[in-house]
Amino acid sequence: MKKTIFIALSFQVWLSWGQAAWTVPKQAELMQNPLTANQETIDKGAKIYQSLCASCHGKTGKGDVVAMQSLNPKPTNFHTEAFQQQTDGTIYWKLSEGRGMMASYKNMLSEEERWAVVHYLRTFKTDKQTNQVSTNQTVTSSKTIQSEKTDAFPFTTLINAKTTRIMPTHGFGLTIQHRFGATKFDEGFIKNFMGLDLAANMRFAFEIPINNKLMFEIGRTRYGKFYDLGAKYLLLQQTGDNQTPFSLALYENIAVTTENAPQYSEQATFENGTKFEYKFYHRLYYDTQIIISRKFSNKFSAQIAGEIIWRNLIPYRIKPKEESYVIAVPVSMRYKTGMRSAVSLEIMPNTHHQTMPVSLGYEVASSGNHVFQITITNSDRILLQNIFTQPTLKYGKEGFMLGFNLTRYF
Ligand code: HEC
Repeated sequence: MKKTIFIALSFQVWLSWGQAAWTVPKQAELMQNPLTANQETIDKGAKIYQSLCASCHGKTGKGDVVAMQSLNPKPTNFHTEAFQQQTDGTIYWKLSEGRGMMASYKNMLSEEERWAVVHYLRTFKTDKQTNQVSTNQTVTSSKTIQSEKTDAFPFTTLINAKTTRIMPTHGFGLTIQHRFGATKFDEGFIKNFMGLDLAANMRFAFEIPINNKLMFEIGRTRYGKFYDLGAKYLLLQQTGDNQTPFSLALYENIAVTTENAPQYSEQATFENGTKFEYKFYHRLYYDTQIIISRKFSNKFSAQIAGEIIWRNLIPYRIKPKEESYVIAVPVSMRYKTGMRSAVSLEIMPNTHHQTMPVSLGYEVASSGNHVFQITITNSDRILLQNIFTQPTLKYGKEGFMLGFNLTRYF
């Protein structure tokens, strides 16, 4: 229900964008294509175009894909004069930033790949141009593109870990994280259909960007009936020329459990002996992080975070005794295995004696504004406030959980 309302809302937003002219910063307009328009570059651009763009703009660039004609505005026809008259810099900027249904490809494609696509788009000629040879494709190197900001990860959440990424500032994001029951390679694997038959945990969250540095998220998790409110602020962003060699973000999340108050006896006391009473603030769990990420190459990115989890209430009789806080140093990495696929790994050492969350992810069919990721985790918890405080499975002996993450930016 909520989802439909949000989709309807965002559709309104697309409609209103459709009317406005797409203004490009002067500086971007003047950027020169640093690549030579030789056969190799054009072939490279063609390959990217046919796998990522043709579904909307058409195999021949005419913007005539039937299923896409209801979009407003429609996918651009690249054979028009209006399109071809624009500078390389303008086209590059537009496909980097995106607008509405046109995703931002800044994080999907490297600078070189994007410039190669621009060359390929030039091969779609207007009727007038058909007999002319493209003229202004000289070899120039441009300093402006080198200082372009980059993101280590294309999405705001990797598997469970928050990344330094702030989503595109138009529209909103929807993330669904799903973890099935524990399974292992024994007869139960088949019987319980890889754990899919067993109880599952799920979190869904809406993400709302305020600008390109600040975003909020509102989430709901099944286990514990948690609602959570998160905020992320990007302090520093990595640039292509390494003037800023890494990105740095702050993250804070407050989660409240809406489960029924626990049953406790009349005689229950706090650790200091005073009479126990279950108060609202006992329902609150906090997650505070500072995250540093770096894109090492077009294929490989990694990040490390310093994280503190705080719980307002823990039973003091548990042995060994637990602290209200858990300190964690999660390390996450992602390796692109293809144009639309990537593998991710998260390892989360922390001060809680029973937990060592280790997660694997495989992205199938990522695009600039969409990801479907299959996950293997050793915890069915998704909220980081819980992942460090519920015992994790030992992979070999105790098994693992399958699951998936689905993210979509509207
Ligand atoms: C989901 C459909 C979709 C996909 C996939 C897609 N586009 Fe688009 N594209 C659009 C739509 C719709 C517009 C018009 C957006 C607007 O004007 O607000 C557009 C606009 C553009 C523009 C700007 C045209 C202009 O002059 O204003 C460029 C350039 C472009 N797309 C390139 C690409 C490239 C390159 C790819 C692949 C890497 C791609 N698109 C993938 C739908 C798509």
